[in-house]
Amino acid sequence: MAKIILTGYMGSGKTLVSEILQHKTGWKLIDLDRYIEQRNDASLQQIFSEKGEVYFRKLEHEAFLEVLNSSGDLILSLGGGTPCYAGNHLLLNGDGRKSFFLQTSVGELAARLSKADNSARPLIKDKSIEELTEFIAKHLFDRNFYYRHATHTITTDGKSAEEIAGEILRLA
Ligand code: S3P
Repeated sequence: MAKIILTGYMGSGKTLVSEILQHKTGWKLIDLDRYIEQRNDASLQQIFSEKGEVYFRKLEHEAFLEVLNSSGDLILSLGGGTPCYAGNHLLLNGDGRKSFFLQTSVGELAARLSKADNSARPLIKDKSIEELTEFIAKHLFDRNFYYRHATHTITTDGKSAEEIAGEILRLA
């Protein structure tokens, strides 16, 4: 029983890479954000605005534990902040788990996120392009400590999602 866990900042490509991995392995795919929404019958947007981020982090931790304890081979795409709260970084290894930090540069993340539809990303949805670069740089500085607990770090700049998925499968 194996679990491939993808982690990394918003916009690092977790969703696309996880879909390719699912296609290549035939394993079940869980996107933790969507799992939280289904489990709580509410959108992330609603959870953040009605109950706040601290409450979201509690739901996120519970959902992460639940998914890790489920049986069977699995591709798990985490939310951008998942490893950074509630000791979740300590759950990225062991018990058949291999985790992959998709490491993307600040410039690339800012370029991607400034073009993306961020309406479902409460932390950045109201930021201008100028604000975004500074926000990401500071945020990544704080978060890198947690991301680095992943079993492997995969740099993503200049690589296609297919190439990244291939690298992960060679290490998994
Ligand atoms: C968050 C990232 C989001 C989502 C929530 C919080 C974060 O996931 O979990 O908005 O703290 O970085 P994505 O990385 O899939 O956008």
